[in-house]
Amino acid sequence: MSEYSEMALPNDANPLGDLLGGHVMHLVDMAGALAAMRHARRPVVTAAVDHMTFLHPVRIGQLLVLRSSVNRAFRTSMEVGVRVEVEDLTTGEIRHTSSAYLTFVALDDEGKPAPVPPVIPETPEQKRRYEEAGRRRTYRLEMKEKARLKQT
Ligand SMILES: CC(C)(COP(=O)(O)OP(=O)(O)OC[C@H]1O[C@@H](n2cnc3c(N)ncnc32)[C@H](O)[C@@H]1OP(=O)(O)O)[C@@H](O)C(=O)NCCC(=O)NCCS
Repeated sequence: MSEYSEMALPNDANPLGDLLGGHVMHLVDMAGALAAMRHARRPVVTAAVDHMTFLHPVRIGQLLVLRSSVNRAFRTSMEVGVRVEVEDLTTGEIRHTSSAYLTFVALDDEGKPAPVPPVIPETPEQKRRYEEAGRRRTYRLEMKEKARLKQT
């Protein structure tokens, strides 16, 4: 489990004065890459991001806490789950604001996909995530194929 925290600052606000959704997406990518690189011990690139939902606005001054873990490793790719919580530092209230699944691919010294170690799930929660990651991968690769066919 990796953790990444950042305070929402005015530079990253939208015209309404809350945090830009795109900034949260950037942090999700960073937090996901952190977990993937720790697992692979190699540079990684983002191959896919599944859909994201924003459940609450993030106010400037609140603390974003992102937790990420590798659900499953395939050959050169890994599915990482990222959960975003927001802490109001003045009240201590913590709210879940977003979750996402991302796929990262590890690269070798030539920039080609490189094999990664397997994830061995132990707890019932890890086993559930592992199984679900396999189903999501099938769907993702189908979507990739459809997008490829549209381009040809
Ligand atoms: C990701 C990337 C390295 C894959 O390259 P590729 O030529 O398709 O390589 P492969 O076909 O060998 O696929 C490598 C792995 O990526 C996985 N993959 C590729 N595209 C995927 C997608 N859209 N969703 C899920 N997995 C994907 C493959 O299933 C394979 O996984 P596996 O080895 O665990 O079975 C390449 O597409 C790339 O460099 N993309 C740009 C990445 C980037 O710059 N990201 C930042 C965005 S600005």
